[in-house]
Amino acid sequence: LNELIAEGVRGRYILVRSDLNVPLDGSTVTDDGRIKASLPVLTKLTDAGARVLVTAHLGRPKGAPDDKYSLKPAVARLAELAPFSVTLAGDTVGSSAKELAAGLTDGQVLVLENVRFDARETSKDDAERGAFADELVALTGDNGAYVDDAFGAVHRKHASVYDVATRLPSYQGDLVHTEVEVLRKLTADTQRPYVVVLGGSKVSDKLAVIDNLIGKADTILVGGGMLFTFLAAEGHAVAGSLLEEDQIPVVKDYLKRAADAGTEFIVPTDVVVASKFAADAEHETVPADGIEGSSFGAQGIGLDIGPDSAAAFAARIKSAKTVFWNGPMGVFEFAAFAAGTRAIAQALTETDAFTVVGGGDSAAAVRTLGFADDQFGHISTGGGASLEYLEGKELPGLSVLDR
Ligand code: 3PG
Repeated sequence: LNELIAEGVRGRYILVRSDLNVPLDGSTVTDDGRIKASLPVLTKLTDAGARVLVTAHLGRPKGAPDDKYSLKPAVARLAELAPFSVTLAGDTVGSSAKELAAGLTDGQVLVLENVRFDARETSKDDAERGAFADELVALTGDNGAYVDDAFGAVHRKHASVYDVATRLPSYQGDLVHTEVEVLRKLTADTQRPYVVVLGGSKVSDKLAVIDNLIGKADTILVGGGMLFTFLAAEGHAVAGSLLEEDQIPVVKDYLKRAADAGTEFIVPTDVVVASKFAADAEHETVPADGIEGSSFGAQGIGLDIGPDSAAAFAARIKSAKTVFWNGPMGVFEFAAFAAGTRAIAQALTETDAFTVVGGGDSAAAVRTLGFADDQFGHISTGGGASLEYLEGKELPGLSVLDR
């Protein structure tokens, strides 16, 4: 980005892909972490006199305008935080975008409406995506440039992430740069012990990353809904808890391979079991091999790791040199089932290790539970993107910039 700024951006249209995909409650932004993370690049460019066109997505609309997925709430929050002037266009590449872009003056920002309101953004067809990219690029006139600052979307081969970069002089934004530098520390010359904490609901979302961590991480602590598939693989009954039966053989294979590769999986020894999936459900802590023996019998649903497991996990985190955490330990949105997630967050703030929190859910969890971003080494803005980076996959949004 500094290279682009040194070349001079005053009066030029700079297309910036930001990640403004924030969680909403109605029209309220419940975690503005990504908006805050997008500010530095926009500020640098506007300070230097650029006319900035921001592209971003929100949620997964079906390729047509849908008010539920409008960027309005995100842009309203951006405008509150920004030291520059921000406007939201009424469409993405239509008459509103064209008119407002033409009227932009130096140092102003125009955000285009959700790029996913156009089905071509995510199309598998190169020509369709290319045609959409051409329309985005046309808004920049004849001296435009592109900056990718949406780390959370670099794993997507989408028009606003990938194809525009093949059409304009393209640069890495500072957020993308920082994220990559941090994640690189988790893949090469990692300080040991390297402890990974994995949670979240499904094992099937984490298969590739687990695969890649076996032999690299010293310890993998397993929590969240996925822990029940691990317990089932160890031969324990899990009553009504979330279980991915088809993944049991896969998990058995992981456990075997990990033992051979020097990676230790630690699965909870106690869990909090509830009568139903609800904030006010009755609940009790039981040994992980005795879930069916809880007062709720076969109906019981495990919704958090238990206190002994949380303490054991915290001890591992405190003796680590590097910790990566992805995925909550339990249903932290319900106060009664937030203790496991809170204990992990607390341990991360107390360890001397270099700590990285990855994934939208984990980032939202630590903020919801009252922790501050600066209590952690790094809070990644990427969910899928950070996992795919750790899986060792090629990320289209990054490789296109390298080219
Ligand atoms: C994310 O939330 O991980 C990114 O913004 C990407 O969103 P997506 O998974 O809908 O592509």
